[in-house]
Amino acid sequence: MGYRYGMHVVPDITLATAQDAADIAAMSRDFIEQGLGWSWTVARVLRAIKDRASNVAIARAGQLEAFGIMHYGDDAAHLALLAVRPASRRKGLATQIVGWLELSARVAGLEHIRLELRSDNPQALAFYTGLGFTQIARVSGYYQGAIDALQLEKRLSSQLPPAGGGSAIIKPA
Ligand SMILES: CC(C)(COP(=O)(O)OP(=O)(O)OC[C@H]1O[C@@H](n2cnc3c(N)ncnc32)[C@H](O)[C@@H]1OP(=O)(O)O)[C@@H](O)C(=O)NCCC(=O)NCCS
Repeated sequence: MGYRYGMHVVPDITLATAQDAADIAAMSRDFIEQGLGWSWTVARVLRAIKDRASNVAIARAGQLEAFGIMHYGDDAAHLALLAVRPASRRKGLATQIVGWLELSARVAGLEHIRLELRSDNPQALAFYTGLGFTQIARVSGYYQGAIDALQLEKRLSSQLPPAGGGSAIIKPA
């Protein structure tokens, strides 16, 4: 079972369980925190999986292909982490994961999604810009004093996709 995204069929998005924590932490270390200390350890990912104010969304096709972690506050959601395994990129997986997490933020009535992004990551900036995020600030030395962060925000309209249809970007294969 999966979903069609253009030419690609991508795996279903589901909520992570404790069994996914080690794979998520390893992907964060290898694909997001490279060159920095490893802050998203297995224990920290496990806390996010168990946290009622957070969703950890994953896509598995046997191995873990992609994941995203979003925290939901009173007014805004915060996208804390997002990564796709290199061989599975440009197939719409990150778009699906962010759409899934964003739908929860809309249903909760939140007004914004915010995130921080390494300033040395133009690929991710292009990805988020395409999803409607705009830069609101640059924070010098945000990542361990070494790398600046770009703060991005997306304003959410109150309009929800049709009931039963899931996210508008998800089409059953
Ligand atoms: C950024 C990242 C999450 C994108 O994942 P992805 O599954 O490849 O993204 P999608 O396939 O949904 O891309 C959707 C669109 O975003 C844009 N985009 C995605 N990756 C891009 C890249 N490397 N360069 C330019 N544009 C890009 C494109 O417009 C793309 O549409 P297209 O493929 O039809 O041209 C992935 O490259 C990744 O995991 N990078 C390492 C970790 C990271 O940077 N995480 C984000 C910061 S925490």
